[in-house]
Amino acid sequence: MEGQGRLGLVFLLLLLLLSLSQSLNSVEEEHQNSLKLELIHRHAHPQLNSRHKTQLDRLKELLHHDMIRLNMIAHKRRLGQNPPAAGGTVRKSNGSIEMPINSARDYGLGEYFVSFKVGTPSQKFTLVVDTGSELTWMNCRYRCGTRCRENGRRINRRPVFWADLSSTFRPLPCSTWMCRVELMNLFSLTTCPTPLNPCNFDYRYIDGSSASGFFANETVTLDVTNGQRVRLHDVLIGCSNSFKGISFDKGADGVLALANSKYSFTTKATQHFGGKFSYCLVDHLSHKSASNYLIFGDNREETSLLGETRHTKLELNLIRPFYAVNVVGISIGDKMLDIPLMAWDATQGGGTVLDSGTSLTMLSDPAYKPVMAALEASVTKYPRVKLDGVPYCFNSTRFDSTMVPKLVIHFADGARFEPFLKSYIIDAANGVKCLGFMPGAWPTSSVIGNIMQQNHLWEFDLVRKTLGFTRSTCT
Ligand SMILES: *[C@@H]1O[C@H](CO)[C@@H](O)[C@H](O)[C@H]1NC(C)=O
Ligand SMILES: *[C@@H]1O[C@H](CO)[C@@H](O)[C@H](O)[C@H]1NC(C)=O
Ligand SMILES: *[C@@H]1O[C@H](CO)[C@@H](O)[C@H](O)[C@H]1NC(C)=O
Repeated sequence: MEGQGRLGLVFLLLLLLLSLSQSLNSVEEEHQNSLKLELIHRHAHPQLNSRHKTQLDRLKELLHHDMIRLNMIAHKRRLGQNPPAAGGTVRKSNGSIEMPINSARDYGLGEYFVSFKVGTPSQKFTLVVDTGSELTWMNCRYRCGTRCRENGRRINRRPVFWADLSSTFRPLPCSTWMCRVELMNLFSLTTCPTPLNPCNFDYRYIDGSSASGFFANETVTLDVTNGQRVRLHDVLIGCSNSFKGISFDKGADGVLALANSKYSFTTKATQHFGGKFSYCLVDHLSHKSASNYLIFGDNREETSLLGETRHTKLELNLIRPFYAVNVVGISIGDKMLDIPLMAWDATQGGGTVLDSGTSLTMLSDPAYKPVMAALEASVTKYPRVKLDGVPYCFNSTRFDSTMVPKLVIHFADGARFEPFLKSYIIDAANGVKCLGFMPGAWPTSSVIGNIMQQNHLWEFDLVRKTLGFTRSTCT
């Protein structure tokens, strides 16, 4: 349906008619402070809670979404490994010029939201935080005639970015090098009827659905940790006016692209704020108004920490545009599992990425089997419960968590990530727990999902190329 983005975009079309001039600084000078965006778990969203009758439904929805998303990640990798036939264009990430995505959903259906203010005066939207996305986009209308005059109205009950009302909205002309070369990676179209026509993009998905719109530069308004606001200019956004054949997840209005990619929001924001970003994911079962922040710059005193910070190398060029880490093993109860090293080797089709938009953790088959075998052994005494699509669940009425050996993820540089038990033996329903892993057909990268990441502060330092992680309540 027209106007239905796959993200299930719930827009709060709030025209913040602030007296911008007073409260805003321009980001020309260097900033000591950090940028701060409130992070909300998708399932803590009021509109969404009503849709989830049971935790079980919710888990099924997570799984469905993860499957689609993991196909996307695998697909991107395949493309990344095959150089494109088209010659002549110099691309930073070789081979991703033609990059269709399997389904609309996976480009956006993440699990954590931020509120994002776009335009002048700013209009506010709820975007999915997605470390796997390269283009920040939102449902948007421009020069659409009478409908635009009824501004403030939603389309199909969804908020829309009314670009005509923004004095800083700058469509990118299709004749520019930016459109013809730079943005090919982000699906720009080569058609250009007149030089000033906007640079269009068109995502074609394997299932026949599509999303389209055009690129623009816009000004984004952000809160700084010192309480001030700051405006970032020339942020590349996708003004998306059509999503066809894509079923919507309700709750977000678009995607905040955090991938390691030239035109992602990460790149733009980290240029101004210290070359790093961080987030602390609240427990995925939090309902209330539990939230934390996505921070660009230093994360000082924003989050209470429960232990020492550990660091491992962040691989920025290994599995672009994802954030890869050098996992070399998994131990359960201090016993290193027998997992072939190729499973962790990105050059052999394996490797590991950290992803904010995948929920469960996916392990490639060579890693999945030993991990599941070891965990299953510790819960076989509880009656097994069969749930569609979930690999292993059990009746947890008499569950004793002290009897389950600890799982530790080991990195090449000696760092150890020790997730909470609830992050890999997850609550599925009343009295039912499931092992929080999914298998991925080899060859594929393993993906550390956001449930595994919960209750830790994660700091992505793109300059030092380190990933820091610390236990935290994230509140
Ligand atoms: C892209 O890949 C081809 C073939 O491997 C290589 O010759 C070319 O230099 C690569 N281009 C870039 C920009 O990496
Ligand atoms: C958009 O912003 C980029 C910088 O990110 C700049 O190079 C380009 O000229 C801008 N284009 C327009 C049309 O404002
Ligand atoms: C779990 O086992 C208890 C008995 O120990 C039973 O009462 C309960 O119905 C079971 N729950 C499920 C979901 O099978």
